[in-house]
Amino acid sequence: MKLAPSILSADFAALADDIKKVASAEYIHIDIMDGHFVNNLTFGVNVVKALRPHSDQIFDCHLMVDNPESMLVDLQKAGADLVGVHYEACPHLHRTLTMIKQLGMKAEVVINPATPVSVIEPVLGLVDQVLIMTVDPGFGGQAFLEETLAKINQLAIYKQAHGLDFEIEVDGGINDQTIKLAKKAGATVAVAGSYVFGAENPGARLQALREGAAQ
Ligand code: DX5
Ligand code: ZN
Repeated sequence: MKLAPSILSADFAALADDIKKVASAEYIHIDIMDGHFVNNLTFGVNVVKALRPHSDQIFDCHLMVDNPESMLVDLQKAGADLVGVHYEACPHLHRTLTMIKQLGMKAEVVINPATPVSVIEPVLGLVDQVLIMTVDPGFGGQAFLEETLAKINQLAIYKQAHGLDFEIEVDGGINDQTIKLAKKAGATVAVAGSYVFGAENPGARLQALREGAAQ
């Protein structure tokens, strides 16, 4: 399984130092929140740009914003590799995902816990990754919602039945135990924020996640 530590739980005054502590992870997960789509407000494109020289990892930008189309060009210039947009924030989802791909980035569609998988079926042939939220977005440190496991499994079955090859990412409440459930259901990438950066040794937490996923 690929790991995506979320800098939402890192030290905002020392982000460059904190991402060095998780250099063994495949992705860096960057939660961009606008205070509208979700109540919380984090950081924007300038932080992506500032971090870019500090890491060669895949920058996995999770946009929890209204009108995400307006920041795609700037995100590409800032060095984003993969951009996730919420189904719930995109009335013209097909166009938005196409725009991400045309800019040369990988495209991801994200669904909230209350949103069924069936609504994104029409765009599954277009995406590189699907993010099934395993908590309601907005904050770190929430408990994993086990009712999302059935959706992960449903998506994994659909992917296999249709010969598609997108990654299935999970985000929210991931620790060394819940990662097992997500993997068993079919997830291939796991985001973890508080479990990794809430610990003294984030690198050791990544190792614990890898061991959990391997069991
Ligand atoms: C929540 C964010 C997550 C968050 C996860 O809206 O999308 O990426 O950092 O935090 P944990 O792992 O603490 O649930
Ligand atoms: Zn996220």
